[in-house]
Amino acid sequence: MEGLETGFETPMRSAPPRVDELRQVARQRFGIARLHREQERTIGAVLSGRDVLLVLPTGGGKSLCYQLPSLLLPRPTVVVSPLLALLEDQFLKLQQLGVPTVRLDSTVGVADRRAALARIAAGGSILVLTTPETLAGDELGALLAKSPPGLVAVDEAHCISEWGHDFRPAYLALGQRLAGLRAGQILALTATATPPVRDDIVRYLGLREPEIIVASPHRHNLMFSVRDLRGDEKLRHLAKLARRLPRPGIVYCSTTKMVDDVWLGLRLIKVPCARYHGKMTDKERSEHQARFMKKGKRIVMVATSAFGLGIDKPDIRYIVHYQAPASLERYLQEAGRAGRDGHAARCMLLFDESDLQIQEHLLALSRLSPSLLGRFGRALAAWAGEERDANIEELALSAGVSQRAASSLVTTLVEAGICERVENRRVHATGPLDTLVERVEGLRSRFEVLRREDARRMRAVVEYASEPECRSVALRRYFGDTDPTPCGRCDLCRTHGVGMRPAGRIDRRPHHPRRPWQAPGGEVPRPELAVALPAGGPRADGHERRRRRRRRGRRGAQPAEHPTGAVRPAPPAAAPLSLLSPPSPLPPLDPAADDLAAELGAPGLPPEPQAAKLAGGPPGSVLPGGAPRHRRRRRRRRRRGHGPRPAVAQPPGTP
Ligand SMILES: Nc1ncnc2c1ncn2[C@@H]1O[C@H](COP(=O)(O)OP(=O)(O)OP(=O)(O)O)[C@@H](O)[C@H]1O
Ligand SMILES: [Mg+2]
Ligand SMILES: [Zn+2]
Repeated sequence: MEGLETGFETPMRSAPPRVDELRQVARQRFGIARLHREQERTIGAVLSGRDVLLVLPTGGGKSLCYQLPSLLLPRPTVVVSPLLALLEDQFLKLQQLGVPTVRLDSTVGVADRRAALARIAAGGSILVLTTPETLAGDELGALLAKSPPGLVAVDEAHCISEWGHDFRPAYLALGQRLAGLRAGQILALTATATPPVRDDIVRYLGLREPEIIVASPHRHNLMFSVRDLRGDEKLRHLAKLARRLPRPGIVYCSTTKMVDDVWLGLRLIKVPCARYHGKMTDKERSEHQARFMKKGKRIVMVATSAFGLGIDKPDIRYIVHYQAPASLERYLQEAGRAGRDGHAARCMLLFDESDLQIQEHLLALSRLSPSLLGRFGRALAAWAGEERDANIEELALSAGVSQRAASSLVTTLVEAGICERVENRRVHATGPLDTLVERVEGLRSRFEVLRREDARRMRAVVEYASEPECRSVALRRYFGDTDPTPCGRCDLCRTHGVGMRPAGRIDRRPHHPRRPWQAPGGEVPRPELAVALPAGGPRADGHERRRRRRRRGRRGAQPAEHPTGAVRPAPPAAAPLSLLSPPSPLPPLDPAADDLAAELGAPGLPPEPQAAKLAGGPPGSVLPGGAPRHRRRRRRRRRRGHGPRPAVAQPPGTP
């Protein structure tokens, strides 16, 4: 067995199972008719004792690569995953499939925990779903140290790298922990790993001569598009999309406030929707999640990126990013929730560059200032040097930071396994004292890289939004795939007529350069879309059907929507859209969070000039979209079939 340390029992049968055996298990136990090539390679490699790094697109079936081996390996398979929601989702699915599984994380009650630990101690084939924190804890750690697992799978492994978008300090100690566990082999899985992130995964997890299996991030059924929209244009556009596009869909916003506004707006126009963000109670969140995830339920989920990573509902037909994401990694993760059944789905970004300032602000809040972290670490080391556990107030005073900042810093250090919270709100430094400062320094420098990289990642989002050729090629390029073949499905390919219309047909109509999402002659529905996405969705309720019939009646025989996902100029909306307009295009954050942000080194939020202009700008004022306000309104009225508005008195001084 190549690359394995000696000194412990081999987890393998004498010969790894043949491919046809694997296919049979996939069929019989998981109902999977055909394994993907990468899945076969990964499972084969894992079962023959190799460490593997698997980079497979979202929805590519990575989970099966540890679920299936867990049935064949004679020792436990431990799966480390960063999100509780993900664990819960998988746990329920695996139970339904009858795959022996236990779950161990901070939310599991005492009795269940005891039962799970007893089950693991009994040995044999079992899948253990856990978090890095629980794995680092004494209970599970000690148990697994006694009976090493056959396989450890690290899901969302990009979280280990500061070059990635989603670095989690909790993943830091994972490499050491895994080395201590003497696991048979390690499987690292992710959908979004650029080449440097892949290197980090191999290095930090200590993979031994791993087989690296990387598939192109390209998913042929996803139709990417970007629209430049500002302020209330966005909400109007979203309202149109939400009414017309087949559901289910997800609308991603950057802040909890914006989620609430958009959710309310969609409810006002009677679009069935749920919402998900960090400020809801656990109960509310799981109710909304359950409602959205229910099989066959066709509603819209409005969410922050807390609802993302790994969510597996097969039939999501569209993802709208109402605000720009902080990175293309995150964008691809979230867009990857769509079309997991292989049918066509749309991924639309409503782009306003100023939204990235919100991201900057949020990122800085979650990243901490590296220098502050260094200072705080030294204060912690000073207290530890005197063999005393300081409380948050004392640490804050020693490091010269506020108590809120100190509390944030402690959370990060606890996650990184550098200290722990003990009784009376005291903080105890863990690990050898002589390496404490060094460990904090290590963490500090990783946050430094992360911060620097944040800016680069955001620039990549802007570049993606202004990409001239093909969105899919741009995304692929970002992830190190140099295949230049255009997708033929994104807004740009359609604009350029790539892979769209039958050859030989020339469209002579002028194409409006400000509408790149509309291909010339784009009103001809593409045949494959007509099959995959019948206008109005796979099934519509009676109300929607009637509304669509009325609309068709008004329009004649035109298709209900542009095949690009961009909606054709709409008739006047039935619901008062003005009700939808949020008070401000930039959501006010909690002012206390602003203070904390400033202290932690986060840039302030951008001013709100658009809001002022929208609310009370003079008729001739120019909106961020470019055209003078009155001209745009007139154009809109013309599109809707109204004549120009009767002349209104101009304020003095206007030409
Ligand atoms: N070979 C296959 N053929 C058809 N469906 C499959 C196959 N393998 C897995 N699936 C299904 O694809 C869906 C997505 O799988 P999974 O959740 O493992 O994706 P993932 O790669 O982990 O994606 P993400 O990166 O978003 O977490 C699941 O419902 C799974 O049952
Ligand atoms: Mg997954
Ligand atoms: Zn394209």
